[in-house]
Amino acid sequence: MIDNLARPMSDDAVSALPPFRRMRRLRRTEAIRRIVRETTLQPGDFIYPLFVTHGAGVRHEIGSMPEQYQLSVDRIPAELDELLDLGIEAVLLFGIPPDKDPYATSAYDSDGVVQEAVRLIKRVAPEMLVITDVCACEYTDHGHCGLLAGHEVDNDATIRLLARIALSHADAGADIVAPSDMMDGRVATIRAGLDASGHGQVAIMSYAAKYASAFYGPFRDAVASTPAFGDRRSHQMDPANGREALAEIATDLDEGADIIIVKPALPYLDVIRSARDAFDVPLIAYNVSGEYAMVKAAGRLGWIDERRVTLETLTAIKRAGAGRIITYHAKEAARWLHESAVTARRDLSLR
Ligand code: PBG
Repeated sequence: MIDNLARPMSDDAVSALPPFRRMRRLRRTEAIRRIVRETTLQPGDFIYPLFVTHGAGVRHEIGSMPEQYQLSVDRIPAELDELLDLGIEAVLLFGIPPDKDPYATSAYDSDGVVQEAVRLIKRVAPEMLVITDVCACEYTDHGHCGLLAGHEVDNDATIRLLARIALSHADAGADIVAPSDMMDGRVATIRAGLDASGHGQVAIMSYAAKYASAFYGPFRDAVASTPAFGDRRSHQMDPANGREALAEIATDLDEGADIIIVKPALPYLDVIRSARDAFDVPLIAYNVSGEYAMVKAAGRLGWIDERRVTLETLTAIKRAGAGRIITYHAKEAARWLHESAVTARRDLSLR
């Protein structure tokens, strides 16, 4: 059989072959592949989430998110050094407060964990872009994203609370506030609140298309924000809906959002693509905790090549249309990108 296949064709038969295009020509060497590559990753593409906790000297690894830590404010400067050395210039802050109550009062405390972290970062590393997550779920004892009326999240009371939280972040010096709650009207309310308080320059990055996703599981572990009862399906989007994401995004843009987020990322590449095609605004994808945890788990078991899977995933998210990516992989990916740039330079210089 093999002999048969390997037998050379006659010259006549070869010249009778139909014409075909040789796509492999541009895949022959790494140098050729590089010159035709459509999507490239850089460390500056990544926004790194930081979990800021209370207390001092805390650097506590999150069980379901290996290599991710809850950090107390005093541990942040070392983290910033590492990030800036790697070329990562934006962080997204989440807070783990000492006390939670039904009204999320610690969320807008001017001495709260996030507010302190923002002030510190702006003092020690003013070049670092500071984005703050604006939501109540990490600060309520019931774990819901806002104020409750009975067993429901009260939309209109919650958006006023969110505006108050956003204002406290802006007062502390945040460059961008990122509401992640999915209440209706929150972008307009936050914008009005910021403008009325002299924060017209603070931008809003809204989680515009945020799905009610099981992929947030490890995150809720990290900040202890699993709802005490019920779930978030009354405000986060149904994973079955793609077109509805465009309506959500249009609404947030109308209300004054400057940048939009689609979240999660990998299971929603189609949503990223259609958002990119439909709107000419900066678009960010959130590669969430569950996406990260799966790669880490399979990597540790030796079931996948973790480095290649990570870089392939991040490339795919960018290829789908995300301009930047919020990702827990930021530091390792930046390190791998630096390493492969060095190897590539060495390989090219050998020729
Ligand atoms: C809400 C918020 C969540 C995430 C970011 N902001 C959790 C939720 O909506 O339940 C999830 C992020 C992740 O899974 O990585 N403050």
